[in-house]
Amino acid sequence: MKGPKWAGLRARVSTSGLLAGSAERVWQMFAGLSLVALSWWYFTAHRLPSPDRYHSLVTSLGWIGVALAVLAATLSIRKRLSYQGVGKLSAWMRAHIYLGVLAAFAILYHTGFHAGGLLTSLLMAFFLLTITSGLLGLWIARKVPPLLTAVEENPAILEELLVIRADCLRGMFELAAAGSPNFRVAVDQHLSKETISWPRMLRFFRRRSTLAEELPAFLKEQEQATNSLTESERGNFQRAAEYALRINKMNAELLLQRVLRRWLTLHMVTTVAMFGLAAVHIVSVLYY
Ligand code: HEM
Ligand code: HEM
Repeated sequence: MKGPKWAGLRARVSTSGLLAGSAERVWQMFAGLSLVALSWWYFTAHRLPSPDRYHSLVTSLGWIGVALAVLAATLSIRKRLSYQGVGKLSAWMRAHIYLGVLAAFAILYHTGFHAGGLLTSLLMAFFLLTITSGLLGLWIARKVPPLLTAVEENPAILEELLVIRADCLRGMFELAAAGSPNFRVAVDQHLSKETISWPRMLRFFRRRSTLAEELPAFLKEQEQATNSLTESERGNFQRAAEYALRINKMNAELLLQRVLRRWLTLHMVTTVAMFGLAAVHIVSVLYY
């Protein structure tokens, strides 16, 4: 009984893997062939320049580029359709990336690698920003989640990180307020700047380390700041230092969470601006 069940499970798992792999290959072939066709069309039409051929080449490549960009942007509609039956989101994502990259080549050939006047330069800038923010987003979506998992002690959403950070800040300042003037100066001069220190945040990322792993070395670094403190205040200073490092760590995690959320806003804003300017450009070349 067990054998066939396991065999069925294996078959299911490997089939989906194979399907994803073959879909990727189909897209790679489609994108490769389309790219060769577009390049061949562009370079042959340029070798035999005639005003008519040039104009039809420019216009056709413009329409092809815009059509590909519109098709790529339909991903947004798919994301908002919560019901099933319109294909897996991963398949839409794959199509989005290949169509977006092909759109980039079609539009670059359309422009003949010239920016033109003010409107077309602006349009081109937003188009390139859409493509580069897309590529950047793809990189971020692949790199940031594993990094976040490696550095965080407990998985927390952005809002929870803000609450923990506020609690730690309060804890550190309460200790300072209750301490001697020397204690307050030590917190002010040594710990406050550590809460927002970029090198320290980058160290968490570089070493993929947790708070517990960084804390002993951090406390050792702060030892010289405790020279001016009484024995009884040294314990409190250590607690304040723990708060400071935790705040820095929360800032590091917040940065990653914000990058994950905000790159898409940039991609969306540039997409909307690009389509808006493209509409003005199309009207101006067709009617003026
Ligand atoms: C995102 C889409 C588009 C972008 C980024 C874009 C960009 C550009 C740029 C930068 C130029 C100036 C090239 C130069 O001066 O040599 C240009 C010219 C032109 N575009 Fe587009 N374009 C787009 C879509 C379209 C579409 C859909 C059409 C179809 C009607 C079109 C028709 C033209 C024509 C006819 C010219 C030549 C204008 C002239 O020489 O005065 N464009 N485009
Ligand atoms: C003409 C080119 C492109 C257009 C018009 C475009 C537009 C869009 C739009 C409208 C969304 C959906 C945002 C939402 O509703 O949440 C999106 C998402 C996305 N795009 Fe693009 N994009 C283009 C090119 C690219 C390229 C070249 C890449 C990467 C190589 C890319 C990567 C992404 C990624 C990773 C997402 C996020 C999907 C998710 O939410 O997980 N895009 N894009």
